[in-house]
Amino acid sequence: MAAVSILLYSILIAHAVAVVPQINFRLDTAPTLLPPSIARNLGPYAPYFNATTYVPPPSSCVVTQVNILERHGARYPTQGTSDDAQATISKIKKIGVKVDSPLAFIASYEWDLGVEDLLNFGAQESYDAGAIAYQRYPSLFSTFSGQIPFVRSTSLPRCVNSATNWTKGFEEASGRSFTFPPLLQIPKKDYNNTLDNENCLACTDDIAIANRDEFANHNFVNLASRLSAFLDPSYLMGGTRMLEVTDVINLMEMCAFDTVAKEKKSPFCDIFEDGDWPMLEYYLDLNKFYGSGYGNPLGPIQGVGYINELLARLTGNPVKDDTNTNRTLTSDPKTFPFDRPMYANFSHDNQITAIVSAMGLFHDADLPTRTIDRERTWVSSAIIPFAGRMVVERLTCDAGGEANVRVLVNDAVQSLDFCEGVTEDGLCTLAAFVESQSFATSGGDGNWDACFATPAKSHQT
Ligand SMILES: *[C@@H]1O[C@H](CO)[C@@H](O)[C@H](O)[C@H]1NC(C)=O
Ligand SMILES: *[C@@H]1O[C@H](CO)[C@@H](O)[C@H](O)[C@H]1NC(C)=O
Ligand SMILES: *[C@@H]1O[C@H](CO)[C@@H](O)[C@H](O)[C@H]1NC(C)=O
Ligand SMILES: *[C@@H]1O[C@H](CO)[C@@H](O)[C@H](O)[C@H]1NC(C)=O
Ligand SMILES: *[C@@H]1O[C@H](CO)[C@@H](O)[C@H](O)[C@H]1NC(C)=O
Repeated sequence: MAAVSILLYSILIAHAVAVVPQINFRLDTAPTLLPPSIARNLGPYAPYFNATTYVPPPSSCVVTQVNILERHGARYPTQGTSDDAQATISKIKKIGVKVDSPLAFIASYEWDLGVEDLLNFGAQESYDAGAIAYQRYPSLFSTFSGQIPFVRSTSLPRCVNSATNWTKGFEEASGRSFTFPPLLQIPKKDYNNTLDNENCLACTDDIAIANRDEFANHNFVNLASRLSAFLDPSYLMGGTRMLEVTDVINLMEMCAFDTVAKEKKSPFCDIFEDGDWPMLEYYLDLNKFYGSGYGNPLGPIQGVGYINELLARLTGNPVKDDTNTNRTLTSDPKTFPFDRPMYANFSHDNQITAIVSAMGLFHDADLPTRTIDRERTWVSSAIIPFAGRMVVERLTCDAGGEANVRVLVNDAVQSLDFCEGVTEDGLCTLAAFVESQSFATSGGDGNWDACFATPAKSHQT
């Protein structure tokens, strides 16, 4: 009996003093999966990468609150993407490939990818993110009681699993056992969910599809001919068309999906040359920009609810929002607490692009659809790669001074040009930041009503 208690006691002690836990980070190996010339041109299908090295705030500042908005980690393709890719692969098999061509492997390629679910690689991205969240801000958790992060997610399994893997990474990095309550899941299909963009019924994919297709039809034709030359030429005799622009895009996207699923560089990547990849990035950038970003009149409005919740958190005032905030949730301290030093929310690329646009980040007035705009700030792989994240830090600089904010996207400090008095370190006073968010505080200039003007199909996330 005594021996058992001593054993138990030593286990507890061992646990309490384990301050340097083993964390098996995988992010460090992600860059070796694909060269940057490919990985950084995969738009929202890019494996997570930090855009720069994290720069801590100036030493006179103390971080007092952290708000994390994170995309789920790498997943299998959606049903639509999967169907399209399989159609292209079947077509190529049917036509036949030239041996020794970069398409030769397709003759024996067996489809074995799942649909939509979080991958092990994606779980690891989320786990790493949780570990980093602790390691970066340990002082927020120096006293134990109640100071655990508040974690919320949409209810789709890939988001839930991302959130729970994040929590695990956070806990293991801390070397302590925080007791997280059950994850607060917000049903995807419920209206007024600030983490999901299916609320704005009048917003369709039409604008995004028209613009990205215009780009593809002007820019991918040569590539389609180049790849067609790798197919059996005798098939052409029948007068059947060879590869289309859409086939090229499907093959390029397969490079992304097959690589993260198998955790090694896919042969689909070797079909292409370095100079081809920026075209894919731009095509995918247009899709997001005109989907729920600045290019869609009903894009940024969908991010207003989250921004208003964020302002509530930062200022400690109740949420004031007439768009997609669910008031049942935000008026209850159990589902909308104000006493935590860290809040983490798991969401989708289309919703996060709406939110960064509502805030004013990565602003481009519009993007041309015939040629690549190489001066653009809107690069989706740098905004919403898998496990991409926006972190809003609240800080006090110079003891007793005013509250400030700093915004980081994938570790890159945002210049917040829209925030009056912002410093070179990206610090802006909270008061000026709130002032700068008039699009959100005004309810999105009345755009929310337009979401309900004509009932129409909503987005895929
Ligand atoms: C990402 O962060 C790591 C660790 O701080 C750093 O070594 C690496 O250079 C960063 N990546 C880029 C592209 O700056
Ligand atoms: C992490 O994600 C994986 C893959 O989705 C899932 O199987 C696993 O249950 C998750 N682990 C935790 C601790 O949530
Ligand atoms: C608000 O959230 C609650 C709790 O999840 C849910 O029961 C309710 O249906 C939501 N309301 C709306 C309008 O979505
Ligand atoms: C994340 O979601 C929760 C639940 O609604 C909300 O309380 C919190 O404010 C959100 N985080 C931020 C930064 O808005
Ligand atoms: C959800 O949004 C609609 C449309 O603006 C609004 O009428 C409704 O009151 C909101 N519901 C909740 C629970 O916030």
